Formats: sequence, structure tokens, C-alpha cells
Amino acid sequence: MKLFIIGPPGSGKGTQAEMIAKEFNLKHIGIGDILRKKVLEKSKDGKVIKDHMDRGDLVPNYIVDKIVNDKTKDVDKFIVDGFPRDIKQAEGFKGKVDKIIYLTSSDEVIIKRLLLRKRVDDTLEIIKHRIRVYNEDTEPVIKFYKKKKLLLEINGNPTIEEVFIDLKNTLKKIFFSKNSWGKFSP
Ligand code: AP5
Repeated sequence: MKLFIIGPPGSGKGTQAEMIAKEFNLKHIGIGDILRKKVLEKSKDGKVIKDHMDRGDLVPNYIVDKIVNDKTKDVDKFIVDGFPRDIKQAEGFKGKVDKIIYLTSSDEVIIKRLLLRKRVDDTLEIIKHRIRVYNEDTEPVIKFYKKKKLLLEINGNPTIEEVFIDLKNTLKKIFFSKNSWGKFSP
């Protein structure tokens, strides 16, 4: 099972990715978390990453693409959260992906959740900027995967547990249902 999970900031990507990874025994690759760790390394890349994250802008693709390709290389079962965020990232991924989970959520819900969390980039101004970046850069990725029939749309507005049950059952149906020959797929 090879999954990406995308959606607006605060839609619950990190939360659901962690739960789904546990449920299906997948490697959880949280791009935001990895980038936050790299900032602490105080390297040249770390400085570039910090500048972009502090503004709520996307970190340059030469950094992100390398992380994703390295972390997913030779891994059979993974869920990458927060990737791809633009078409270039989608096209730059060298491996195979089975499904892209698209968590939807309204701006009102997102803003409320993120203001409660209080991460450094969770000020109202930066949240609004992240939503703008999402609408401009990540929305086209949704159309890209819809065309390829890889998109799995899940409503991210209900409670964490309700979203998880919906997502878990949808994945079970896709990956573990019997096919017409009575065999489990894949
Ligand atoms: P990242 O850390 O991925 O932040 P984000 O996309 O803005 O998403 P969030 O972490 O804010 O939200 P989430 O959807 O993961 O929700 P979560 O589960 O945390 O990225 C940060 C930055 O890194 C970006 O701005 C960019 O600079 C850079 N970056 C990352 N990926 C990149 C890429 N591919 N390319 C370039 N740059 C990249 O939940 C949020 C809160 O809501 C939590 O408090 C949680 O408890 C709560 N919550 C979750 N679900 C629910 C629910 N159903 N009901 C109530 N509360 C909920």
C-alpha cells in the first residue's frame, strides 16, 4: 500500500496519516515534520527551509523531492503526508503510488483548529497565506490525480475518530476486498 495524503493546512493530514500508518503497518513520512527537524540542523538547507516555512511558503522542490525520493525508495508500504504540493512535485516523484487521499475541509474549520494548536506558523496571517498557497499551488495537483483516477476524497470536517473510520473503511474496501475470482487484492 503506497499512499500520499494531501489537503489544506489543518485538514488533519498529519493526524490521520499517523493513525492509518498504525492501522495498516505503513511507514509514516511527514514532510512538514522532517523539514522542521532539518531546520534544527542549522545547515545551509536548514536556513532556506526556515525562511520559507516561517512565511508559509513552499520549501523549494530541490530539497523536498530529494527527501521524498530517499524516504520512499525501496519501501513497500508507506503514507507520505504533505506531498505533493504542486504539479512539479507530483511529476518529480520517481516511485509508484497507489492512491492519493484528499482530505477536504472548510476554511472556517481549518482556521479554528490551527489557531487552537499555536504552532509558530499558526498565526492568523500565516494561516491565511498557507491557505492561499494551497489554493494556488496544490489545487491543480488534485485535478492531476483525479484525471489519473487515483484520488480518494474524504471529508475531513467531522471528528478525528469519524474521519479515521471513514478513511480506514474506504482503504479496506479498495485494498482488501475480494475480487471477482474470490481472491483478496492487491
Ligand atoms: P505541514 O507541517 O505539512 O503543515 P500544513 O500542510 O500547513 O498542515 P498542518 O500540519 O497545519 O495540518 P494537517 O493537515 O497536517 O493537520 P493536523 O493533523 O496537523 O507543513 C508546514 C510547512 O512545511 C508548509 O507551510 C511548507 O512551508 C513546508 N512544506 C511541507 N510540505 C511541503 C512540500 N511538500 N513542499 C514544500 N514545502 C512543504 O491537525 C491540525 C490540528 O487540528 C491539530 O491540532 C489536530 O489535533 C487538529 N485536528 C485534526 N483533525 C481534526 C478533526 N477531525 N477535528 C478536530 N481537530 C482536528
